[in-house]
Amino acid sequence: MSSERVRSQFEPVARNYVTSHFHASADRLAEVIELVEPEPADVVLDVATGTGNTALALAPHVAWVLGLDLAPGMLAEGAKVARERGIGNVTWIVGDAAALPFVNESFDVYAVRAAPHHFPDVEAALAEAWRVLRPGGRLGLVDCSPPPAARDFVHEIEVARDPTHVRSHTVEEWTELLARTGFEVESARRRELEWRFANWMGTMDVSAQRAAELEAKVESAPPEVREALAPERRDGELWHRYWHALIRARKPADG
Ligand SMILES: C[S@@+](CC[C@H](N)C(=O)[O-])C[C@H]1O[C@@H](n2cnc3c(N)ncnc32)[C@H](O)[C@@H]1O
Repeated sequence: MSSERVRSQFEPVARNYVTSHFHASADRLAEVIELVEPEPADVVLDVATGTGNTALALAPHVAWVLGLDLAPGMLAEGAKVARERGIGNVTWIVGDAAALPFVNESFDVYAVRAAPHHFPDVEAALAEAWRVLRPGGRLGLVDCSPPPAARDFVHEIEVARDPTHVRSHTVEEWTELLARTGFEVESARRRELEWRFANWMGTMDVSAQRAAELEAKVESAPPEVREALAPERRDGELWHRYWHALIRARKPADG
């Protein structure tokens, strides 16, 4: 996805990511902390940090965090939140996950959450993660990851909601990609959430008409997709299942 396209998609909705029910949720941020087990001396790189939810959650536990993103307008919101919360150990840097502006072996931890599905070249991004991690460094990855039965269907909704969505990978694909890069995968699982459709559309300011079309699409999904998504109405609102891959990996100490 071109940098310009990513910027123009995210910058107008930057503020939504500061308050997003998923991205700013304390429970969801606790998952990242559990994955990377931050230590006080750690220097952390949070790639595609957006408005810095992950970077700011890790910051109190570590020495320093660099939050990197393609979109300066997202980083500006992150910097604002850091100032409001009095968090002073985060630096914000514009850059591309596939060409990181850092020398080799600069970081103890590489975090990336809710973003690799935007990367046109995931293998290049993982090669960069490997390069900038010191030997023994940890990688924590969280990204959308529907099960095979719902994958193609959810992809259509994702792209209609956000044209910068490229591809969601399964846990098995992530495990294979990470192993091929040289990482030792220490834990890999798919986690399921109850997902409020209106929040999902709202984060991207999807128009009411487009949201209604996509809602109708979910409700008329083929039987095998419906079985996976389990759409239901609660107080008139559409809810369904949604999934993420949660992966912890390590660059071997002799890597
Ligand atoms: C959903 S937001 C990230 C959310 C954030 N990681 C969090 O935990 O709240 C996705 C971000 O990925 C960024 N992005 C997309 N492609 C990128 C790339 N190739 N390199 C760096 N950032 C990228 C977008 O600019 C956007 O800010």
